[in-house]
Amino acid sequence: MIPQNIVISGANSGIGAALAKIYSKKNNNLFLCARNLEKLEKIQKLCQKNGANCFIKAIDVTNSLDVKNWIFEIAQNFKIDLVIANAGISAGTSKGIESFDQINEIFATNLNGVINLTHPACEIMKNNKYGQIAIISSLAGFKGLPSAPAYSASKAAVRVYAEALRGNMSNYNVKVNAICPGYIKTPMTDINDFWMPMIMSADKCASIIKKGLEKNKSRIAFPLPFYLTILLLSALPLKITDFIFARLPKKKSL
Ligand SMILES: NC(=O)c1ccc[n+]([C@@H]2O[C@H](COP(=O)([O-])OP(=O)(O)OC[C@H]3O[C@@H](n4cnc5c(N)ncnc54)[C@H](OP(=O)(O)O)[C@@H]3O)[C@@H](O)[C@H]2O)c1
Repeated sequence: MIPQNIVISGANSGIGAALAKIYSKKNNNLFLCARNLEKLEKIQKLCQKNGANCFIKAIDVTNSLDVKNWIFEIAQNFKIDLVIANAGISAGTSKGIESFDQINEIFATNLNGVINLTHPACEIMKNNKYGQIAIISSLAGFKGLPSAPAYSASKAAVRVYAEALRGNMSNYNVKVNAICPGYIKTPMTDINDFWMPMIMSADKCASIIKKGLEKNKSRIAFPLPFYLTILLLSALPLKITDFIFARLPKKKSL
């Protein structure tokens, strides 16, 4: 399947913008959302320059009704091939324990925001008996990080959700993929003041995701050496990894 009608959340920056660019070619219809409309308009211009039809909407993914209305409106006029639930935020423990508001905001965006988009997408694609849903998790979703507890928990939740949904939606000929990138150079990581191993560009990340989706890989986790290291660390006794992870640098608090 070569996707032509593609929906991407969080598409005005970083990985989402790089995905919009890589999918922007002649005859493709892109439907992009994020909260900041001005930034979306810039990406829209780029995509249109590449020949795609690009429709943008300022939406907060934590608003389930707005997201549902948006995707159902798209589905009335287009047969959606691919939905990429990418919008997300990150924050950590540089100020000590995470505030209640920070934790709520992270889960509202990274977990509920993903469900707000994927649930109506599942309904639409189940009826069509066709489609693909990509959920952006993270390598941080394989190990609880003391530097970012809510973020790593939210990413673990959406990874497991995607992997479970895959089996369920396969009954309706709908593909579901869990995307687990390591460090990617975007505004989200630009604020980090610590060394980020194997960091890669958002364009390279988008290219790996696109190829993985074409192969319908259940889990698209990269870079491979970083992924294998995380798998190994999560298999070690907690006594050992607690010691290591408690000493890692802290992500900035909100
Ligand atoms: N960068 C990394 O190293 C890395 C690694 C693994 C996974 N990820 C994941 O990849 C995804 C994209 O991150 P990124 O690095 O590209 O960060 P980014 O450049 O900060 O982009 C985040 C995107 O999400 C949108 N967004 C945030 N909250 C939103 C909300 N409530 N409603 C709608 N849109 C919202 C932002 O636009 P507005 O602010 O205008 O709404 C922006 O378009 C996230 O899910 C992140 O957790 C990133």
